[in-house]
Formats: sequence, structure tokens, C-alpha cells
Amino acid sequence: MIDLTNKLLKTSLTAATATEQNATETAAQLRQLLNYYDRLYYIEAASPLPDTDYDYLFDLLRRIEQKYPNLRTTDSPTQRVGGGLSGDFPTITHTIPMLSLDKAYETTNLVDFDTSVKKLTTQTDVAYTVEPKFDGSSVALIYENDLLVRAATRGDGEQGEDITANVRKIPTIPLSATFSKYGIYRAEVRGEIIINKHKFVELQQTLITSTGKTLANPRNAAAGALRLKDSSRVAERKLESFIYQLAAAFDQQGNDILATHCQTHSQNMEMMNKLGFRTPAAKQYNAFEICTNINEVIDHIDKWKALRDTFDYEIDGMVVKVDKVALQEQCGATNHHPKWAIAFKFDAKQAASILEKIDFQVGRTGAITPVAKLKPVQLAGVMVSSVSLHNEEFIRERDIMIGDTVLVERAGDVIPYITAVDTDKRTGTEQAVVFPTECPSCGSKLQKNEDESVWRCLNADCSAQVEERIIHFAAKDSMDIRGLGDQIIRNFYKDGLLNSIEDIYQLNYFKIQQQEGWGTKSVENLRNSIEASKKQPLHRLIIGLGIREAGQTTAKTLAQTIDKDLEELYDWTTEKLKTLPDVGPKVAANIVAFFAEPKNRVIIAKLKELGVNTQQHEDAKRIERGKLSGFTFLFTGSLQQFSRDKAHELVEQNGGKLLGSVSKNLNYLVVGENAGSKLDKAKKIPTINILTEDEFLALVHN
Ligand code: IVH
Repeated sequence: MIDLTNKLLKTSLTAATATEQNATETAAQLRQLLNYYDRLYYIEAASPLPDTDYDYLFDLLRRIEQKYPNLRTTDSPTQRVGGGLSGDFPTITHTIPMLSLDKAYETTNLVDFDTSVKKLTTQTDVAYTVEPKFDGSSVALIYENDLLVRAATRGDGEQGEDITANVRKIPTIPLSATFSKYGIYRAEVRGEIIINKHKFVELQQTLITSTGKTLANPRNAAAGALRLKDSSRVAERKLESFIYQLAAAFDQQGNDILATHCQTHSQNMEMMNKLGFRTPAAKQYNAFEICTNINEVIDHIDKWKALRDTFDYEIDGMVVKVDKVALQEQCGATNHHPKWAIAFKFDAKQAASILEKIDFQVGRTGAITPVAKLKPVQLAGVMVSSVSLHNEEFIRERDIMIGDTVLVERAGDVIPYITAVDTDKRTGTEQAVVFPTECPSCGSKLQKNEDESVWRCLNADCSAQVEERIIHFAAKDSMDIRGLGDQIIRNFYKDGLLNSIEDIYQLNYFKIQQQEGWGTKSVENLRNSIEASKKQPLHRLIIGLGIREAGQTTAKTLAQTIDKDLEELYDWTTEKLKTLPDVGPKVAANIVAFFAEPKNRVIIAKLKELGVNTQQHEDAKRIERGKLSGFTFLFTGSLQQFSRDKAHELVEQNGGKLLGSVSKNLNYLVVGENAGSKLDKAKKIPTINILTEDEFLALVHN
């Protein structure tokens, strides 16, 4: 893959489309590569390829397909983006009902479940699997002839909604999967669509500042995103999936081969993993266990009570399933749930506290966010004292008053939120919330658009806004300036060292060095990362500028469409912008308004003058990149053909990175003689390529 990647990264559009034959071959190779990196990224959580390189390959494929539309296959990675209104969702009837799960709250319920299973199957020993109960929105996916043909919501269990267009936008759902390798012509797989807890927090912030809307928790966020009318917006919601069941399998003649060909749930999960689905059985999640009896199940669930908080996804329990499909069929089902599975539910994470006061914070777009200050309360192991109330509407809808006893939940252990007010606890001393009419930072009069629920400070020079804009510019998803974090920016701003985004590139390092806590080394590091950020790809600068509602996807689309320089955008109309994938009328209007604003043009001109990249990358630049760029290496055993130092030098000279130990971030382990534990460990991680010294040399020299 490394050779193919390097080859394609050096391929220009002109070369790729010189003949139709070239285009056909290159498009097939690009699809293969992008699918490979998608799998690494989304399923294995590894990212050996820098974003810019991925984008280059993706863009090349998109442009080849634009030139030769007949090369656009339905499972091409480009077919996940773009798309338009899916309109209403037609109802579809599930061929096999999507049932609910029976619930267990105590160990005794699990023991009773085991007794019932043994009775129904007339077995004395039954093996079970245990996996998380994902708290999202369930989907059924139908694959025919190895292609995803339909996706549906659970609905009432009998009938769901056809959400195929939206599901196709979820990167962890394969658009094609070679079930045919296993003799399966038609397969129905089921799983849960979810949002990573941390991504949910980011999404919540983006949505609240841009639209004023709030999402109660990751589950609602996933369910809402799945039903977005405009499928091109689905990608922004960062949906992910976990597949938890092969629900049906038929051969070409239409024979049901589930129980005969796919004999255990654990093997089916393994198979689906291999086919490119993300399942809890994938090694890196460590979230799937086969237990030989119910006591092992109980012990394992006990362990997960503590692990729950460390898991990246919201889970509300563990699901126990009979492993053998034939035994599952013997157990059967009620109208409500299968008798071969049960969900052990964890305790809810709720606590009550007193709302002591409300602070009003000013965001980078001037949006005013009310934040409730609570009497500190322990919630699932963390002390909670501050909770966002999002906007005035949120407060009014829930009738929240100062002094109230409020119920707090933590979505995914990351952000706490208020679910309700305990009005029975009211004493009559509570006070209504008075929303400010003036900006708490600069004092200017707050305004509210008719179609929005947020109050805003419209003074772009308001110091709270300026400070937040600088923070956003330097943040990880924007210009990613390491060492220039929130608190440092706040301190610099307070001390007058940093008054605008442009100031980042004209910092007085001499003065900084005299500040408490700064030394030669730390100042040097800061300077280096600021300098390095000047070369960030264009889409990062676009994100950093903070155009309302223009997130990563839109920024990438804009950067890809720009021919040479960011300034081209100054002349683009909303009509032109609306023709781009992922750009709706509102975002288009925001982009036009942003670039029409003279102050923003001044910022861009200054940044350019200070050496910040405002250009779309050129193909020429990437030819200079090292052959091993984006890949990680580790050497083990006694090397015969070169010294360890020489090996390291070769990697670094060619743009590769060295790692100190075996982990899933490692791409290549180069093995000398008498290799030991590192080799053993690497063999257990399927994504690591194990090379001999000769193979390594071939990689470098070819
Ligand atoms: S198995 C009904 N496994 O829980 C038998 N369901 O309360 C098939 N869910 O609608 C379901 N994680 O969406 C199964 N690991 C898991 C699950 C899971 C979440 C959801 C599922 C279902 C609901 C039932």
C-alpha cells in the first residue's frame, strides 16, 4: 500500500486522465486505497496517512470521476459526500421484526435468564457472549450482491423508515462488503448508530453557536442526524456505528443459511469485522467476550461497570447473547424480545443539585450562553459544578429558576446537562432568570434574530469575542498551534501580548520570556509551532477564520474548489457556493457575508503578509515529500545489514517517523535476527506490516 500511496500522491489529474484506460486503472487504485485508509481510520482507529494526503487522493478520484462519470461506482468513497435532499422517508416493512431486549437489573435476573435458556434448549451448558449495549439509534442494513442496498430505522419494530441516503454518509458503514466470499447473497446486519462522546461535545458547541439548537444527549443527536432531510449535512454530525448482529443470511437461491453457515454470533462478528464493519469484537475496542457459563458473564459485567466511563461511546448496559445461532433459534422470541438475549442495565447517571447562579458567557460569534453554577455534586465519579443552559429558550422551556433543585445527567461522562427541575422542592424563594439585555463583556445592546434562539453581541471588537476567536484560530481542528492553548491565549490577551489573530504571528518573544513560567526552551517551542502553523493546509486556515456554520467538511470543500488563493472566495456568490456539495443556503450566505466584511479581508491580507499559507496546495510540493512520509517504523532484533543508527536515519531522511514501542499506531516493524517480544506483540495487531531488512531496503530504495 505504501508504494501505491506514494505513486498516486505523485499522480496529477492530467496524467491520471490522459487516456480512459489510465483513468479507469487509477480510479480503481484510488478506490482501493481510500477504502483501505478509511478502514484503518474508522475501524482500526489508526491514521498513518496525513489528512492532506488523504484529501489529495480523494480529490483526485473525485476529479477523475467528474471527467469520466461512467467510472463513478455506487460504492466509490466519493459517493459518501454530496447528495441532496432525501425528502420524506418512505416506510418499509422489516422482513424480520426488530425487537427490543428483555432487561436485567440484578445478578439474579441473569441467573433466571440462564435457567430459562437451558430449559428452552434442553442444554446443560450454554456459552454466552457479552458486549456493550450502545446507546444510540438502531439500523438494519441490507446487502445484496455485496452492495449496500437499503438502510432502515427500527421504527415501531415492524415498520421503519428508509434512511439509505443518510446512512451512506456514515464512514464506518461499508458501501460494499464481500459477503459472497462466505456464500451469502443477501444479508441483513443490524447495529447501532452512535456519536463518540467527545465528538458530541464539539458538535453540541458548533450547533449551539451556529443555530442555537441543542441536542439533549448523544442518543438524540444520532437519531436526529439519521433523519436529517438534507443528507449532505449528515457528514457534519460525525456519526459512527457498531454492528451487533447478523440478522439474516440467504444464498443465491434464496435459502436461509444463517444457522447452517453462520453458526455462532461470535464467528459472525468476526466475519463482519473482516468484511469491514465495525463491531465490538474488533480487538482494539476490547468490548466483546465469550463466556462459557453465566457466572463468567456476571464477573465480566462487573468489570464493565467500572470500564463504562472509560469507553469512548455512551453505553447504558451490557447485552448477553446465546452464542450458538441454532440454540438462539430454539429459544425463539416473544412479541417484544428474543428469549436468547438480555440487556443488563447499568444504573442511571443522575444526581440532584441546587442551581446557585447563572453566568452569561460570550462566544466567538457573540452568542451569549447562560451557564448554570451548581452546588458541586458527584456524578458518575466526577464533580460537577457548571452546566451549560444553552440559550434563553432552554431555560424557559424547562422553567428553570435560580435556587431550584435540578436533576443533572452526564452524557457520556463528558458533559453534564440538566434534564429537569424538581418543582416539588420549590420553597417560594426561587428567582426567575433575568436574561441580560447588554453584553456582559463590552456592554453593547444584545440582539436576537427572529429565526434564532440565541442572543448575540454584535460588536465584533468586543474583547470576549476577540479572545474566543483567537482561541478558535489556534485550536486543534483549526491551525493546531501546539503550546498556544486556551489558558495561554487568555493570559497573553490579558497582558496585552496578543490582541488579534494576526498578533499570533508577531508575538514579542522577548517579553514572553520575561513572563512567569516561561523559559528559553518553552519560548523556542512556542515559536517553532507558530512558525510551523504558517504552512498548514488551506482548509485549516478557513476553519480557523471561524465562518459561522462552516465546519471541517465545508472548509475542505471550499479549499478543494479554490483554484489557487483564498482571495478567490471574495467574488463568489451564494448561487455559486450553493452548487458545492455540503453547502446549503445558510452556510453560503454566511460565507459571502464573511468575505464581504472589510475587517475580515484585512485579517486575511495581514496573515498572508506574515507568511501564513493562503494557497491551495500544488501537486509539485508533494513530489518533494519523503517516500515513507506518514508511516511509522520500529526496528527489533539484531540487524545484519545496517546499524540501528543507519536504519533510523533512513526512516527520517525519507520522511517516516520512528516509534519506541509496538502499538496500533505502528505501521511497519522491521525484524532482524533473534527478535523477541516486540515481534510477538506485533503479530497480534493485524494492521502492522512485518518486514525483513531486505524488504525494508526495497521500500526505501524503490
Ligand atoms: S441485540 C433484539 N446488541 O438495544 C435483539 N442490541 O433494547 C437484537 N442495542 O433496539 C438486539 N446495543 O438497537 C443488541 N450490542 C447490542 C446492542 C443492542 C444496543 C439496542 C438495539 C435494540 C435495543 C433494544
